[in-house]
Amino acid sequence: MDITRSFHMNDGVDATSYAKNSALQKGIIDMANHITMDQLKDLYMKNESEKMVIADLGCSSGPNSLSVVRDMVKTVADTCRENKPMPEFLIFLNDLPSNDFNSLFKSFPDFYTQMMGTPLILSIAACPGSFYGRLFPTQFLNFVYSSNSLHWLSKIPRGLNDEKGNSINKGNIHIAGNSPKQVVEAYTDQFREDFPKFLMLRAEEIVVGGRMVLIFNGRAGPDHFDRGFPLLWSILSQSLNIMASHGDVDIEKLDSYNAHYYGPCKDEVEEHVRKQGSFELDRFDVIKPNIGVMHCIVVSQGIRAVQENLIREHFGGNINVDKIFELFTILLIEEAKKEAINVVNFIVALRKN
Ligand SMILES: C[S@@+](CC[C@H](N)C(=O)[O-])C[C@H]1O[C@@H](n2cnc3c(N)ncnc32)[C@H](O)[C@@H]1O
Repeated sequence: MDITRSFHMNDGVDATSYAKNSALQKGIIDMANHITMDQLKDLYMKNESEKMVIADLGCSSGPNSLSVVRDMVKTVADTCRENKPMPEFLIFLNDLPSNDFNSLFKSFPDFYTQMMGTPLILSIAACPGSFYGRLFPTQFLNFVYSSNSLHWLSKIPRGLNDEKGNSINKGNIHIAGNSPKQVVEAYTDQFREDFPKFLMLRAEEIVVGGRMVLIFNGRAGPDHFDRGFPLLWSILSQSLNIMASHGDVDIEKLDSYNAHYYGPCKDEVEEHVRKQGSFELDRFDVIKPNIGVMHCIVVSQGIRAVQENLIREHFGGNINVDKIFELFTILLIEEAKKEAINVVNFIVALRKN
């Protein structure tokens, strides 16, 4: 499967859309907001230029991206009242070309209404393309923001099949407690290729002294399985396995379904930043929102909004997605009743050398 062509969150604004089912991600954005805004304020105070060029990488559709843009512009506006003239803003919203940019554009009038009273020159443009490739001219961006996106790899890792082409991670769609070590290595290697490449590309595009705030999923420690996002992947695997045991999912298709996802641990991220060498690590915060029983339905609907399109493309459009996520919700509630589920997320603030 060509991820850059196929992957997108659920379109539009209906009941199963990402727009209506991104509360988990919004909660994470809000927990990181003070850091994002502090970094931006600090940059603005040191910025000599009359323009502020900002990119949101992996913006998706729905209200999350523009809510952050609104906070960014208001933060600079409040800071500049006492200190400096208001810069002109040029804001790029990036995502894969298959993203539903149209519904994002349709929410612009509401966004501009919210911005009324803030005297500003603001241009917003879409920038379709993979953030694992060059997106912007050299030394062009002042501030890069990315939330809930960088845990998506550029592709499904190589090395998940044996020499006959059979899965070596049967029954799982990601790293699970019983995955062989070659599976862990395949995912780790793909992250080792992707993350430094992302840093290198952004280093070319960001001006010296420019900032990045990257918010993405991680793991609690070196163990590849914990009761955070790895548990959620294993619950999705279990749901698909139950479907397969009822004959509702083709078992071979299940064996060949692999998530292009990797949640690193803190040490891995720090090491890649240090080795790549273009950025100074200003801050590294770890947040661990709790998924309690009362959050399980919202989380299940959120995961559906992220995975449904790939599931349909891989298993066939008629697959019973409602059933998969009914099972997912039941299993998630069982787990949440047993023991706390805490999903680890990183907030990484970087400064271009
Ligand atoms: C869960 S959404 C996050 C959306 C929004 N930033 C938020 O926090 O709610 C992840 C987004 O990352 C995008 N994405 C994944 N891989 C990408 C890539 N290589 N280049 C650009 N966008 C990518 C997906 O298409 C998706 O829209």
